[in-house]
Amino acid sequence: MRLFFALPLPEPLQEELARFQKRAKDAGVSGSWPSPAGMHLTLAFLGECAETRVPSLMEAASRIACGHAPFTLQTSRLGGFPKAHAARVLWLGLEEQPLLRTLAEDLRSGLHEVGQAFDDKPFKAHLTLARFKAPQAVTRFPEPPAAIIFEIREIMLYQSVRGLEGSRYLVVGTAPLR
Ligand code: 2AM
Repeated sequence: MRLFFALPLPEPLQEELARFQKRAKDAGVSGSWPSPAGMHLTLAFLGECAETRVPSLMEAASRIACGHAPFTLQTSRLGGFPKAHAARVLWLGLEEQPLLRTLAEDLRSGLHEVGQAFDDKPFKAHLTLARFKAPQAVTRFPEPPAAIIFEIREIMLYQSVRGLEGSRYLVVGTAPLR
């Protein structure tokens, strides 16, 4: 199963992101626009894992989560991967939050300790809004919603299931913060 750890987004934020996607689609760019209901903030992407690994992954995540109190995040500006002027991924960034960085680093160390491999590209907090085949300049999209503040209370382990209409994300486990 294809697994990743991420933070779920509260519903009011999902709704705001859906409204933004609607406006952004007016830019007429063809691409895939993931459903906001499944949107998340990825902490560590594990890739293909045996189902038997899940208990030890959740044990590691719960241990880390217990050592962190809930915290708030605030949305910031639009950006693009790999580059803002030639983006294949359009994302909404987040204001720097040291508690988020520490949580991601601690989780990644915890995964190392249980011998779990993951994509170790440096952590860059972002909410993916769209993916494009042809690179796009981020400046062609409208201004994103003004700073939205939301609370993080848990880490989730998700399974990514690929389908004809994009990937669906199923919750495999939840590790509440302290
Ligand atoms: P994203 O966070 O930019 O959207 C499931 O595929 C989730 O894990 C997606 O949200 C995806 O990107 C994120 N992810 C991070 N690294 C990945 C990788 N190497 N391959 C696929 N997805 C990855």
